[in-house]
Amino acid sequence: TDYSFPSLDSFPTLRNDALLRSAQGTQPLALGTPPPIWIMRQAGRYLPEFQQVRRDHSFFTVCRTPKLACEVTLQPIRRFDGLLDASIIFSDILVVPQAMGLEVQMLGGVGPHFPSPLVDPQDAQRRVLDRDVDVFAELKYVYAAITETRHKLDGKVPLIGFCAGPWTLFGYMVEGGGSRTWEKAKAWAYKNPDSAHAVLDKIARVSAQYLAHQVQAGAQLLQVFDTNADCLTPHGFDTFILPYLRLLPTLVREHLAALPSSPSSVPCPPMTVFAKGATSPAQLSSLSQSGYETVGLDWTVSPRFARTHTSSRVALQGNVDPSVLLGGSPAIKAEVRRVTWGPDGFLTCAAEGVKGGWIVNLGHGITPGVDPEDARYFLERVRRECAKKGVD
Ligand code: CP3
Repeated sequence: TDYSFPSLDSFPTLRNDALLRSAQGTQPLALGTPPPIWIMRQAGRYLPEFQQVRRDHSFFTVCRTPKLACEVTLQPIRRFDGLLDASIIFSDILVVPQAMGLEVQMLGGVGPHFPSPLVDPQDAQRRVLDRDVDVFAELKYVYAAITETRHKLDGKVPLIGFCAGPWTLFGYMVEGGGSRTWEKAKAWAYKNPDSAHAVLDKIARVSAQYLAHQVQAGAQLLQVFDTNADCLTPHGFDTFILPYLRLLPTLVREHLAALPSSPSSVPCPPMTVFAKGATSPAQLSSLSQSGYETVGLDWTVSPRFARTHTSSRVALQGNVDPSVLLGGSPAIKAEVRRVTWGPDGFLTCAAEGVKGGWIVNLGHGITPGVDPEDARYFLERVRRECAKKGVD
């Protein structure tokens, strides 16, 4: 298929820039003005219209077919019309290992499966380190999906692009799928740290190129999902996770700055780091000074705790417990209350003069068992609580 990056001024004008203003820090959390909101994994199996598409097409076929990826990306925007402030391109973090030459299958009821994961440093040397990756050629189906979706969104909400944190991808590439303990990946890092560092560096370089390309294709904010950031020790986090999370924004900026400025330059959009489980004071503090404009939170800390340990220059994203959407309206109402006007909630802190923006989201992806009407109730409750100027 034919694809070349569009001229960014060919896109429809963005009419709702609340997410971008919060992430850039130009729209602090203001009482009475609902902050931007979106839901991690908002396009997915909890939506019957997604299941309908999946009946006819395999998971990676949807990812690889721009028309289908675009359709599925727009499904939650249509269903929750006016209640969501962002879209996120439908794809998966595992398209990057595929681009690096590893086969990945999505097995029903099991999840991702690598028929031949990396087995040892020699294997990684041969299959990963000694191979050049043509990031544009391998992933242009994602860029085509992003460009088409930017047009179809018609400026309604911004479009988020994403990739995984290098440690999370290393885990999948070594384990061959999901794992409770990630012990093969950890054993590799402890036994052969130099090899682990070389692979992590390679993943980071490919991912940064991929993120820069997504921006050239039309992505307006970038999020890095480091879902497995919780499986190492604090020292392991500082050694194998944080340096590579830091490398991503540095390299993305370098790539974009190196592009010719005519016909027009491509500015670096705001970036979000979601390192699930990295919630100690030291980790929150490091993440808030790692080159990202927004730090994503899981649900295990209070907003006040997170605000206390992060720079007021970053916006925080989260941190509603996704499981609460399985608990019915009273539970949803109580959890929304916790993150807004609870004693340690974002709005309570803002009313006390604590600085810093907030992007409302769950603390991890929405799960398949959620009733879409409960997701709608969640979005409505947030708006209701955030319209208030004080606790009632
Ligand atoms: O957020 C969105 O709406 C965009 C789409 C998106 C998907 N995966 C679609 C998907 C995003 C951002 C991801 C990221 C992703 N993928 C992560 C990081 C975020 C997180 O949730 O932790 C991870 C670890 C993966 C890897 C992955 N992909 C797993 C573990 C699974 C199976 C487990 C599960 O949740 O079922 C997938 C499959 C996947 N990715 C599905 C969707 C909608 C379901 C597969 C299907 O349709 O059969």
